[in-house]
Amino acid sequence: MSFRTIESSPAQPLRVVVAGAGNMGRAWLAAVIAAPDVELAGVADLNLTAAQDAIAAAGRSGLPIGSDAVELARQTGAQALINVTIPEAHHAVTTAALFAGLPVLGEKPVAESVSRALSLVAATEITGELFMVSQSRRWNPQLARLRAMAGQLGPIGTITTDFFRAPHFGGFREHMAQPLLIDMAIHAFDAVRFLLGCEPVSVYCQSYNPEWSWYAGHANATAVFEMESGTRYVYNGSWCSAGAETSWNGRWRVSGQNGTALWNGDDAPTLHTATESTIPDTSHYSGIDGALHVFVQALRTGQRPSGEVHENVMSLAMVEAAVQSARIGRPARIDAVLTRAHADAIRAEDRADVCHVLQNWPSVRDALATPPEP
Ligand SMILES: NC(=O)c1ccc[n+]([C@@H]2O[C@H](COP(=O)([O-])OP(=O)(O)OC[C@H]3O[C@@H](n4cnc5c(N)ncnc54)[C@H](O)[C@@H]3O)[C@@H](O)[C@H]2O)c1
Repeated sequence: MSFRTIESSPAQPLRVVVAGAGNMGRAWLAAVIAAPDVELAGVADLNLTAAQDAIAAAGRSGLPIGSDAVELARQTGAQALINVTIPEAHHAVTTAALFAGLPVLGEKPVAESVSRALSLVAATEITGELFMVSQSRRWNPQLARLRAMAGQLGPIGTITTDFFRAPHFGGFREHMAQPLLIDMAIHAFDAVRFLLGCEPVSVYCQSYNPEWSWYAGHANATAVFEMESGTRYVYNGSWCSAGAETSWNGRWRVSGQNGTALWNGDDAPTLHTATESTIPDTSHYSGIDGALHVFVQALRTGQRPSGEVHENVMSLAMVEAAVQSARIGRPARIDAVLTRAHADAIRAEDRADVCHVLQNWPSVRDALATPPEP
């Protein structure tokens, strides 16, 4: 898929507006300020005090702020938008930006539902603007190394992630029905697609809330995915598990025909095979700094980046399928989730042009796999 390219360099930096000045928005402000080929043009938030406080904390008092991100981008001559708003606002803000001729780098999740995500996919096909989703773990050099190791193992039988922590966040996570699956597990689900380079088929998931949990919803979940390769991926997690906590990245085991690769989530992964292999270094950038670098590079070169929206949606589909399976008590098929989301997307769509594109997709999987040339 090709998209509109934009030249940039340290002498001619890409001017961006950051939308959303909450916790993560502040992290993005720091990343933008640190990037040599990006310039912060302004900060938008519905809460102008939050925007004001964020630019002051970033040492940029006096920078333009506004409540409408796209309008602020127009006023400041910004060339791209970084969407760090709450998930429920991702669809509206990103749609407006794309149709205003702004490429978007968006925080995960791509949108609050797969159906809204499909609408955004169609919007990029109409506008020809790049929309890349930042799943920050994708840019973890240790995960990239684990992927290179997985490539040495021959056919992969099982991949497991253990995620056991006990954070007291306060706020929205403690009131969500599925805080672990929706807010956290997407990082691991996206990582397993990245590791295997293949897509999910189905999932059986049980979620529950231990009696000592301080969450209103389900803090624990165990999900078994079947992947297209035949690999089984087992995610076993808890957000109310005190003692011997795992890394925020989880603890990983990749088990294949030729051996095993292990990653504790914090240190370099290790390869355990009968013969020695040389694992090349594959990634030089990490976290959101890495995502920003890749976004700017993609705009410069026109090369489709990892995390481009077509490629990202399946990670959210894994979350929705796991939630559905936990609700119905049976396995859920990813294709059924996609089919229902597609119908919902067409029904809910306000824009005739986006609706037309959605209606003409042969299937959602095909549309996501082979984005058309605009
Ligand atoms: N990659 C990670 O590790 C990671 C970690 C935390 C959060 N996130 C993601 O970052 C995003 C933001 O999370 P957060 O923790 O900063 O949330 P937050 O609630 O702290 O901040 C969100 C901000 O967005 C603003 N906002 C809402 N609607 C808006 C709109 N239409 N236009 C402009 N501003 C709007 C809110 O006023 C708020 O200030 C979420 O998508 C979240 O999932 C990612």
